[in-house]
Amino acid sequence: MKERTLVIVKPDAVKNNFIGEVIRRLEAASLKVVALNMKTLSEEEAKIFYVVHSARPFFNGLIEFICSGPVVPMVLEGEDAVSKARAMMGATDPKKADPGTIRHDLGTHIEANVVHGSDSKETAAFEIPLFFAGVL
Ligand code: RTP
Ligand code: MG
Repeated sequence: MKERTLVIVKPDAVKNNFIGEVIRRLEAASLKVVALNMKTLSEEEAKIFYVVHSARPFFNGLIEFICSGPVVPMVLEGEDAVSKARAMMGATDPKKADPGTIRHDLGTHIEANVVHGSDSKETAAFEIPLFFAGVL
């Protein structure tokens, strides 16, 4: 089914000049970029975005990392966009991700793992308006 998902190119990937490579891979899989920008998240914005992780031990580090430089949030549209993007990203930890996945090929660390992708249609419906309210 045609659906939308939120993908964010994280600060490590922006620093490493991987914005284009991430988008190239997603587009090559027939996912269409329907909204995109670049911004540096405030701590407040990051805490809302990652609210599901607020009780986790890695929460503070996660917030610090995602705010550490510009990110490139985008909305991708296509058949099974949520699961397709997640499969292409690979496991959360780049060291455990399968070869050929974005995180395996371009990531370095469980935090510096290149990309975020919505993990369900419901999550996408929460995350997309945080970045693109009124745009889509
Ligand atoms: P994401 O939300 O970024 O797409 O990643 P994910 O679903 O694969 O992983 P999730 O469990 O949602 O975790 C969100 C982000 O938190 C960082 N993390 N650090 N230090 C740790 O043990 C740890 N565990 C997770 C990762 O950067 C992960 O992407
Ligand atoms: Mg997640």
